[in-house]
Amino acid sequence: MIYGTGIDLVDNRRIEKIIEKWGDKFLDRIFTPGEIAYCRKHAQASIHFGARFAAKESFLKAMGIGLGQGVRLRDIEVANAESGKPELILSGEAHRRVLDEGIADIHLSLTHTEKYASAFVLLEKK
Ligand SMILES: CC(C)(COP(=O)(O)OP(=O)(O)OC[C@H]1O[C@@H](n2cnc3c(N)ncnc32)[C@H](O)[C@@H]1OP(=O)(O)O)[C@@H](O)C(=O)NCCC(=O)NCCS
Repeated sequence: MIYGTGIDLVDNRRIEKIIEKWGDKFLDRIFTPGEIAYCRKHAQASIHFGARFAAKESFLKAMGIGLGQGVRLRDIEVANAESGKPELILSGEAHRRVLDEGIADIHLSLTHTEKYASAFVLLEKK
């Protein structure tokens, strides 16, 4: 049974500007060390940071919650399998809410161009 879906679109240039202004302070607040390492491996890191930011916001939308409601973006992590397929790994309050709601499966898809990054999340309840 579908619990919720969420979608988000990010302007990568906006992310790039925030990184230029705030550097590690911004990155460490929003992204995990694994995400930062993954994005920095790529020529244009902001594309991949943008996609991960979109994934975090899409998860919140799928849960029906917004920022400032106890879930930290850093607790919503995107990890890639060897094939490249992304998945969400949750910790802290994000993990607790998923358990509380009985969500059994989380599906994530990402796409990006140089300018924009987008994510789609589908939450399933058994
Ligand atoms: C998956 C694939 C169709 C992506 O299409 P694309 O148009 O090139 O790129 P998009 O911008 O739409 O999507 C990129 C995102 O697709 C996702 N992706 C990559 N491989 C994936 C896969 N096997 N399954 C699902 N999603 C995948 C990633 O999240 C990636 O973004 P990220 O690197 O920031 O995490 C393409 O990369 C492909 O054919 N891959 C085949 C698998 C492969 O060659 N793997 C190599 C390692 S074995």
